This record gives sequence, C-alpha cells and structure tokens, in this order.
Amino acid sequence: MYIIIFLYYAMIQFNNLNQEIPYLLFKKKYEEALDADQKGIEAISISSFNKEVSEVDSRYVNLKFISNDEFIFFSNYDSPKASAFNSHDQIAALVYWPSINAQIRMKAKIKRKTDEYNQKYFFDRSEEKNALAISSNQSKPINSYSQVKKNYNKSLKKDDLKKCPEFWGGYSFTPYYFEFWEGHESRLNKREAYEKSVDSWKHLILQP
Ligand SMILES: Cc1cc2nc3c(=O)[nH]c(=O)nc-3n(C[C@H](O)[C@H](O)[C@H](O)COP(=O)(O)O)c2cc1C
Repeated sequence: MYIIIFLYYAMIQFNNLNQEIPYLLFKKKYEEALDADQKGIEAISISSFNKEVSEVDSRYVNLKFISNDEFIFFSNYDSPKASAFNSHDQIAALVYWPSINAQIRMKAKIKRKTDEYNQKYFFDRSEEKNALAISSNQSKPINSYSQVKKNYNKSLKKDDLKKCPEFWGGYSFTPYYFEFWEGHESRLNKREAYEKSVDSWKHLILQP
C-alpha cells in the first residue's frame, strides 16, 4: 500500500527568518491566519509617494518571501509604482487578515533585488507567468483586452521565457516600524508597535 504525502507549501515562504521580536510576531500571526484558513494571505498593500507628481498611491502585491529581514515581491520596473519608489524610497505596507481580525502595518525603505537574483527566480517560474511579465507594459493604456491576449500569446510563442527581462524583478523592503493591531469584541483593541532604533526595537503599547 502506498502512502501519498502531500507537501503543503505556504504562500509566503520564510527563509532564515530574522529572530527579532517583530519578525517572530509577524510569523506567529501569519500561522494563526493560515490555520484559520485565511484566503489571499499573501496579499499585501504597498503605499508609495511619488515626489515628482506629489501623489500618494496604493496597490496590492503578492508577498513571496520573507528572507531574513527582507520582505520580497516582484513587479515591473517601468510601472508607476517603480517610478514612485525611484523618486522616494520610503513605503508603507499593510495586511489585514479577517480570519483572525488582525492588522499589521509596516514602514520601510524599498530597493530592487539584483539581476542575478531575478534571473534565478524567473528561471524557476512557469513559462505562462513569464510570458505575462514579458508581454505587459504594466499600467500603460492599450486599445483592447484582446490586444493584451494577443501580446501574451505572441510572447508565449516567440520569447525566451527563461530569461528575465531588465524591466522586471524583485523588490525588497526591510521594515523599521511594525504595528500589530488585534480586534477585540469589547472594542478594547490591542495595539503594539515596534520601532527600530539603531540595533534594537523600542516596544510601545498604543491606545486603541
Ligand atoms: C491580490 C493582488 C495581488 C497582486 N500582486 C501583484 C504582484 O505581485 N506584482 C505586481 O506587479 N502586481 C500585482 N498586482 C496588481 C497590482 O495591484 C497593480 O495593479 C499593478 O502592479 C500596477 O500597479 P502600479 O500601476 O501602481 O505600478 C496584484 C493585485 C492584486 C489584487
């Protein structure tokens, strides 16, 4: 008799996680939400400020890795968010996991991953995902959705789908501020913040 073991890969991969308190707390909350069957657990909102146009903007991305103290996601380096990060490298990141009624707010500096890192990550991804990354001028207007599909299919047939283009890759941010918010039925919500000061974290309890 064969026993089939299904390996469950979490949606956010933790690699050699930093052992400081806010990182351990983030992982603890993540595991609680995962146990509570939280859908879309890897979605994280990233808010940016573009100095050139004096504008704040937000969008969700999929958080893929937390490697030591770096939170890593992937995107287009020619997109509006990329222009904002170029003009102002400080961002705010936000998750809310309704299954456990928890919010985590972070502030951080953001930077690109190296070309070597991007090539390796891209090489290991599916060709379908890579064709989409290659064929899309992210956030630029286009005549129709059918043109989007045409560009994608053309890329699937013609492009080298194992080579990461220069305009696509990882972003990593290392928070200098975390706030953990826990909702309570009594409305006496619990808020705890951690502020980085040189090489230690200052712990604060905040009023709800
Ligand atoms: C749940 C969710 C996850 C997303 N993940 C990503 C992602 O990992 N990378 C990305 O570039 N866009 C992702 N998007 C699309 C972005 O929200 C956004 O539309 C796109 O990146 C363009 O943003 P920009 O115009 O601010 O550059 C995601 C959207 C949703 C709703």
